[in-house]
Formats: sequence, C-alpha cells, structure tokens
Amino acid sequence: MVSRVIPVAPFDLVVFGATGDLAQRKILPALFRRFCAGQIPHGTRIIGAARSAFSLDDYRQNLAQSLKKNLGTTAIEDEKLVQFLQLVSYISLDGNGAAGWRALSAALSDGQEQSGSELRVQVYYFSVGPSLFGPLAERLHSHGLTNAATRIVVEKPFGHDLASARDLNRTLAGHFDEGQIYRIDHYLGKETVQNLMAVRFGNMLFEPLWNSQYVDHIQITVAETVGVLGREDYYERSGAMRDMMQNHLMQLLCLIAMEPPAKFDPDAVRDEKLKVIRALDPVEPYHIVRGQYAPASGAVGRDLNYRETVGNQRSSTESYIALKAHISNWRWAGTPFYLRTGKRLKARSSVINVMFKDAPHSIFGEEAGRHANHLKIRLQPNEGITLSVTIKEPGPGGMRLMDVPLDMSFAEALGPKGSEAADAYERLIMDVVRGNQTLFMRGDEVEAAWGWTDPIIAGLQARGDVPKPYESGSVGPGDADLLLRRDQREWRGINP
Ligand code: BG6
Repeated sequence: MVSRVIPVAPFDLVVFGATGDLAQRKILPALFRRFCAGQIPHGTRIIGAARSAFSLDDYRQNLAQSLKKNLGTTAIEDEKLVQFLQLVSYISLDGNGAAGWRALSAALSDGQEQSGSELRVQVYYFSVGPSLFGPLAERLHSHGLTNAATRIVVEKPFGHDLASARDLNRTLAGHFDEGQIYRIDHYLGKETVQNLMAVRFGNMLFEPLWNSQYVDHIQITVAETVGVLGREDYYERSGAMRDMMQNHLMQLLCLIAMEPPAKFDPDAVRDEKLKVIRALDPVEPYHIVRGQYAPASGAVGRDLNYRETVGNQRSSTESYIALKAHISNWRWAGTPFYLRTGKRLKARSSVINVMFKDAPHSIFGEEAGRHANHLKIRLQPNEGITLSVTIKEPGPGGMRLMDVPLDMSFAEALGPKGSEAADAYERLIMDVVRGNQTLFMRGDEVEAAWGWTDPIIAGLQARGDVPKPYESGSVGPGDADLLLRRDQREWRGINP
C-alpha cells in the first residue's frame, strides 16, 4: 500500500544545534526523506544554525556526506540530493550570545507572507541542551523573529525532575503560547504506537473487554540490545527511569489505558492521557527492580560492563528497571501493569502483552487444560499483532485444548516488499509544519509524569537501593522475575 503524501506550503525551518548528533542522524535525514517523497516544496528554507564556522559550500558538502552515512548510499538519488541541498543554508550563531542573530534575521526577513495575508510557517527546532532553551527563546523574541505562525520544537529530556520541568515550561511560556510548543517524544511518532489507538478505538472487538473485568494484567516491555557507550555522562545522570520509563513507557501506558477521547484531536487525546497519569498510584520500592549490565563470565567486548563504560565503579544508576504500576480508576482498579525496560538485553523488542483472564468455567474439565486469550502488540521490530485463541488439539483422543496464534504482520499486510515506513521524526516534523500537536506532549502532561516519577526515585534513594547486576545479553536481573512470580504470573519472553 502506498502511503498518501500531502504536500505542505513552503515553510522555514531553523535547526539550532545543526552540527550535533541528533540533527545529523535524525532531523536532517527525516527532512531529506520527506523531500524525496514530494512533501516538501521548493521555496522551503532549511537553515542549519550552530556555533562552528562553515562556509555554505562546506556545510552543504558535510551534510551530503552525513546524509549518505545516515541513510545508506542506496537511498540517495544524486539529483534529489542536489535539489535538497539548494533548500539548505547555514548560519554560524551563538545561542547564548549576540553572534549570528543579525544574519539569521536577514535570512528570514523576506518572504514572511505566504499568499495573501497568510503567514509562512516558521519552525525553530531546539536540537540543543535544555540550558539553551531559554536563551534561544529570548533571542528569537528580541530579534523580532517570531509571529503567530512560529512553532518551536524541543527534545527530551524535558527536565530532570518536576522542578526543572516546571522551570522549563515557565521559561518557554514566557515567550510562546502552549499551542506553539511541540515537545517531542519520538515514541509517539512510531507507526505502530499510533496503531495502538487505531486498534483500540477503530474496532468494536477489543474495547468492551478492555478493563479489569476481563484483563488479568498488562505487560509493557521495551528491551534494547545497545548499551550506553557514547552517552555515558547523560546516562549516568539519568538512568532507565528518567531516560525511558518517565517518557516512552509512560506514553505507551497512557495509550493502552486511556479512555476513548471524544475525537482524535490534540487536546482531547492529551486530556485523556493526562487523566491516566494522574490516576497512577505511587509505586512502592518493593514493586521496583533495578539492574545494571555486567559481562557474562568470560565475555570480553566493548560496553558489556555498565560501570566500566561510565567509568564509575560505584555507580548506582540503573540500566534496567521493572516495576508494577496500578491505575486507580473504574476501568483498571485491580489490574496490574508490569513495565520493564533495559539496555544490553537479549533482543531489541518493544512489545505490549494484554493478558486476558481465564474463561470463568471450563466445560471441558480440568484435564483439557486452562487457556486464556492473549493479545500481543509488537511495536518494533516485526510490527504486528498476534491474538492467541484457544482451539481443540487436532486428532482423536478427546477434547484437549491448545493455543494458536492469529497473527498479523503489518509489513506483510500493508507494504510492498522493501517499502519503508516513515521514520518517527519524518511524521513528527511534518506534524509540526501542519500545526498538529496530537503526537506531542503538553506541558501539564510532562509535569504529571515527573510528579509520578520523582517520589519513586526519592523512595529508592532513601532506601539506598543498589541495582542488581545482570548479564549483558540476558533478559535482565532475576529479581524482575520474582516481581511477577509473587503474583503467580510470568513475564513473556524477550524475542526479536
Ligand atoms: C531514547 C533514549 O529516547 O530512546 C535512548 O534516550 C534509547 O536511550 C532510545 O536508546 C530508544 O529509541 P528507539 O526508537 O531505538 O526504540
């Protein structure tokens, strides 16, 4: 199936931090791919801004190389690349000082009016550390570079705790309306994450059963094989709780647990997500397991040992966390949500397992075996859905039951072989240009998520909790199994 491409009107996009890792790996490749798809028209201006001094030619040459590196040479048609580079310019600019701002004003000064009186969309992408958000916002204003069609994009981490997130929100609110602020959680841009909403609210089948009367428990797993090499400082200050749980897993939890919004509209969706976060109970330390990866005995290799990688033999930062959460509302009271995420695990696999309750009575007798339905939503890789259904074991010999999967792979069902789904950043950037905030976090949502996270971290610190070592390439620390076993349950496997 070919995805629909609806071109947008020419716009301006300034990437602050244009020479940084995120801009090179994600933002500029995403823009290039949208350009190749025909969505970004000629007349659009993409301006890279960073401190380094580059001539326009040098910047374009560097960008061409980095696009080739990040997209794979096969993805690039030379002609398209040349056309794309014509849209791109570069300004050397100091986000904290005066240098470069006049040049930026000059670059943006003409062509503010699109057609008639409509303003040209102007996106400022803050691909920089949060300490620069305030200075950039201030300078954009003082140089008269904002208007009603201005939007800013900010990356995670949006704060380190509730107090810092509030500060950031206050700073940005001093210069922009909430409707102009796009806080990115790239998980929300993933095709299958959006499919969670389509599956739940586009089908009659699941929603009547989607509550504590029929659902025994839900497992959300985001397992990664990568370690923290290259991001040691940031990660050592954050850990899995702040890096993944507070944002990506929290968003998945919201989409799985929220009430149907009245419409698929930014505030309707975000209001419902916010209600989920606010209904989350505090998590007791004994419902949390933290881990740190360590090498399997005899294993040698780069980044198999967390403490060695971050250069801190006494580090108590977790590279793995599992916890049991409860949502105190009518729909979910009594249904636990088990969440886990970790680095250097056995496989890269993000999966949500909705485990339904047993049928209330087995008419086939105990010897037929007890089976419960189970809906598995694979977010990445091998995106798709599997529903396990109970049937009769084939053959003579009486009625014995077994589970068979009703399996749907999105790739097989939807794509001609080889077609690539748009990357999360492609979708999110184009949503900014179109002015659609549905897949972005609102300020109150981020604060509520920190409001849930802060006491958990404080509780663990007060207890002097030390992460349990787990072998790189395993499924995580053994204690995480106990978390479920205590409730007579088991984690589903972590499989690619
Ligand atoms: C980022 C985290 O937000 O998400 C990383 O900072 C993590 O630590 C990454 O590796 C995972 O994203 P994805 O898209 O690879 O699942």
